[in-house]
Amino acid sequence: MKGAIIQFEPVLGETERNIDKIVSEIKNLDADFVVLPELATSGYLFLSMDEVRPFALKPDDEKLKPIYEAAYQKNTMVVLGFPELADDKVYNSSIAILPDGKFYVYRKTHLFFKEKDAFLPGDTGFFVFDYLGVKFGMMICFDWFYPESARVLAKKGAEVLLHVSNLVLPGMAQKGMVVRSMENRVFSFTANRIGREEKGEISLKFTGMSQVVSPKGEVLSRAAEDLEEIIHIEFNPEEALNKNITELNDIFKDRRPEFYEGLCD
Ligand code: ACM
Repeated sequence: MKGAIIQFEPVLGETERNIDKIVSEIKNLDADFVVLPELATSGYLFLSMDEVRPFALKPDDEKLKPIYEAAYQKNTMVVLGFPELADDKVYNSSIAILPDGKFYVYRKTHLFFKEKDAFLPGDTGFFVFDYLGVKFGMMICFDWFYPESARVLAKKGAEVLLHVSNLVLPGMAQKGMVVRSMENRVFSFTANRIGREEKGEISLKFTGMSQVVSPKGEVLSRAAEDLEEIIHIEFNPEEALNKNITELNDIFKDRRPEFYEGLCD
């Protein structure tokens, strides 16, 4: 299977320009799927729901049609973050658009910092879907900080984690996702953005270093901190089906939930 990541710098509030950029990059790919950053259509730094609402889109919004079209033409699944309009509320969401126009939407579970003022906490929970015979699960940026996110996806059978991100804590998630991949024996594709956004006293620098990690915790590819970059990688998703660390240790069968009391209260 061939996967790709597009690391780029979305421009705050420039939905059409960002979508044009995404589509032109997809046109150069040769991949079964491609992962883009969190809030890739809108940029990141919104301080209230009223501020983000004009840029929020429904999953079948006309403005997203060029991406559906590119997914169809390139026969690739496109996964990207966008502010999702639902009634008049907004979620920080990720959409997986399949070549046939089918889509899945995940709404970010763990909101980071000022996102709490701009978005509703996600209500979809973590789910797994099938594409080309492989099980995929989505998570968004700060979800990585909660080991439960990746663990639930892996327990539901995910072989590949699609981690759309706008990471700002230098290098931390890049290290953390190595552990998430290793402890769950899954591939992870972390698509991060680059650049800086500022509003009032808040200034955020995004850390780039998008990466692909194997079920053994090997970093198969990592982009630069501050350059637009495309990662292309060929991998065997079946490697994620082997949960044995040694012949005597299956990481899931060896769990002792009877001693994990208090974890989920
Ligand atoms: C983040 O969750 N965007 C840091």
